[in-house]
Amino acid sequence: VDIEAVRSRFSSLSSGFAFFDAPGGTQVPDEVGTAVVRCYRQASGNLGAPYATSRRLEELVADAHRRAAAFFGCTADEVVLGANMTSLNFTLTRTMARQLSAGDEVVVTRLDHDGNVAPWLELAEDSGVVVRVADVHADTTLDLDDLARQLSPRTRVVAFPWAANSVGTVVDVAAVAALAHEAGALAWVDAVHSAPHQAMDVVAAGADVVLCSAYKFYGPHLGLAYGRRELLESWRPYKVRPQPTTPVARRFETGTLPHELLAALVACFDYLDSLGGLPALAAHERRLGDRFLANLASMPGGANLYGLASMEGRVPTFLVNFDGVPSGDLSAALAERGFGVWSHGHFYALGLSERIGWGEALRIGLCHYNTLDELDRLQDALCELVAARRRSGAASRP
Ligand SMILES: Cc1ncc(COP(=O)(O)O)c(C=O)c1O
Repeated sequence: VDIEAVRSRFSSLSSGFAFFDAPGGTQVPDEVGTAVVRCYRQASGNLGAPYATSRRLEELVADAHRRAAAFFGCTADEVVLGANMTSLNFTLTRTMARQLSAGDEVVVTRLDHDGNVAPWLELAEDSGVVVRVADVHADTTLDLDDLARQLSPRTRVVAFPWAANSVGTVVDVAAVAALAHEAGALAWVDAVHSAPHQAMDVVAAGADVVLCSAYKFYGPHLGLAYGRRELLESWRPYKVRPQPTTPVARRFETGTLPHELLAALVACFDYLDSLGGLPALAAHERRLGDRFLANLASMPGGANLYGLASMEGRVPTFLVNFDGVPSGDLSAALAERGFGVWSHGHFYALGLSERIGWGEALRIGLCHYNTLDELDRLQDALCELVAARRRSGAASRP
């Protein structure tokens, strides 16, 4: 993949500002924005009218579901589209919970983003469902033995991430799904953080529900969910009565979808396909990750890296801080120098931040449009800023 050619498709990358904030939301190629405008020009209005603009929208809606299905590795009638991952997850968890009783159990993990924890905690509040938490090892990999210990005859769901948005650790979805199924529970997967980096085959992975968010993989602000067909058929949806009942997943899409964003979603899949799909980007992302880790290891005075120390078992999302240097101060100084890096206390990964206690840290998230040159410039800036702050900290100490 010719990364310079790829970058020229993003107006926002032309300023020279280096975006290392992909986990918060990626930049978007121009063609995705163009698709929004084209949709409004050619096909505004709504579905169901006997003329061309409306038929174009119907085709668009079908196409968006077909393309999302190819992304998940499922069929189009198993795809639910919605506002974002969080909204979709509140909808689907509440819908599924119509089959739960007080005392039924849900296992979540310490690796999860709160988007796959809070919906279950709210159900616990409303209907007496019990939420248990599976632990992680010290290296931030999921502790499967502890997860197995949390399972019981009352477990109905195991909710877990495909990859952790805080430290980038990848979870073996098939292994967790197998444990869940042995216990008679559903495997409920948050794929928001893995989706920009790894191709999905939700059926081979044995997942029952998988959610992701297109603004994390170069697309519009739109949530996508896969639900296994037999499961979706077994749920009673919250829907208005005249809304069609087929295809089955569409029963969980309330009201009118944002058609212009569906057009953007299709353009985003076209963009990824034009590069050869996510697998074609893996080698470049791996090179970037290796370079980042090598740079970090060579930093004078050292750095604290939370999570796995190599690119094995992770995506290129790195959580780091530096002794004696406030991370918030560092991210602000980096922004002034042209580097987009977030600093935060938990990154919505409340379970892991409690367990590991990094205080505040920088999350440096790489994706395919980043370059080795950007990483080397980041390294120079970090070395300079960290050294300067350590010097001024030492000078101000009595
Ligand atoms: C791992 C993970 N899950 C869930 C979410 C929530 O996604 P959304 O913003 O689409 O609701 C995020 C957002 O950052 C995330 O990183």
